[in-house]
Amino acid sequence: MKALITGGGGFIGQMLAKRLVDRGDEVTLLDIAFSSAGLGPLAGKVKTRTGNLALFTDVLDAVRTVRPDSIFHLGALLSASAEANPISAYHVNIDGSFFVLEASRLFEVKRVIYTSSIASFGPGVPDPVPNEFDQKPTTIYGVSKVFTERLGEYYHREFGMGFRALRLPSILGAGRGGGGASAYTTYVIDKPARGEPVQVWCEERSRIPLLYVDDAVQGLVSVHDAPEAKLTRCSYNIQGFSPTAREMADAVRARIPKAQISFVPDPKMQAIVDSWPRALDDTPARNDWGWHPTIDLSGTIDRYMAAARGSA
Ligand SMILES: NC(=O)c1ccc[n+]([C@@H]2O[C@H](COP(=O)([O-])OP(=O)(O)OC[C@H]3O[C@@H](n4cnc5c(N)ncnc54)[C@H](O)[C@@H]3O)[C@@H](O)[C@H]2O)c1
Repeated sequence: MKALITGGGGFIGQMLAKRLVDRGDEVTLLDIAFSSAGLGPLAGKVKTRTGNLALFTDVLDAVRTVRPDSIFHLGALLSASAEANPISAYHVNIDGSFFVLEASRLFEVKRVIYTSSIASFGPGVPDPVPNEFDQKPTTIYGVSKVFTERLGEYYHREFGMGFRALRLPSILGAGRGGGGASAYTTYVIDKPARGEPVQVWCEERSRIPLLYVDDAVQGLVSVHDAPEAKLTRCSYNIQGFSPTAREMADAVRARIPKAQISFVPDPKMQAIVDSWPRALDDTPARNDWGWHPTIDLSGTIDRYMAAARGSA
């Protein structure tokens, strides 16, 4: 299979690319910029293209040139960056999604897999949130996720496009960037693993659903590969586990007794985190295409620390 990954230079994009390359797929990464540190283990194994999702010409040109069978549409401004730059977020996350779907229609891309988010739900939702529930986000990031889900469903209905979206929880793993308000879940492991103090920007009681990046990548590949006949819908909740910030800190302290973890809530970040669900019900994903996360909180912290030390 020929795959194009938008936002392919990012955290999940690179991990997904590795998984696809390992199974023999031909992968091109599209991103607005690639890290000067290079592509690490992906170097020489994937093609790269620089392009701006907010420009239809860049997206069209990438899809016309690569002619992918499938697009994994990951490119976006993440939650905190989007709230700080709502106009850019509109152009990248909303216009960009339209451009990816329209280019996919024009060049007959068979499947478009999209990374939606828990942020597509607004505050005041049940715990856990059912797969089908009002999506009334209060952030531009969340609005952009709902927009893309609904537009993808329209392309599926009108043009038969294989659009599939996963509502991802906060994804943990070495190499994750800091653009999301949920990134505290990474820093609370990463900094102690490096012997550095960490100030968590939300309250100890804060609880959001999490998933280790290897499971997230497996979810994206599995939903991509699932036969159309098995799917009862286009957009699926998935999650792994759902600890409080305090429980995460305690699990880190159990491994690194000298860890310096303090809680210094930032009202803006707390408001974003509080606008998200505490947990997601992912029963339809389990029933339709066999979703099953394999890595719990302990496994996540152990793997994260091994990866951060370069031993995994
Ligand atoms: N990381 C998480 O916890 C999480 C949770 C839920 C959903 N998601 C979604 O998963 C996707 C990937 O997230 P990630 O953690 O890998 O983020 P990331 O920031 O590491 O990757 C996003 C990539 O998009 C690229 N990008 C931004 N603007 C662009 C533009 N105008 N044109 C082209 N590329 C552009 C960035 O350069 C970056 O490489 C995003 O859609 C995000 O909303 C992530």
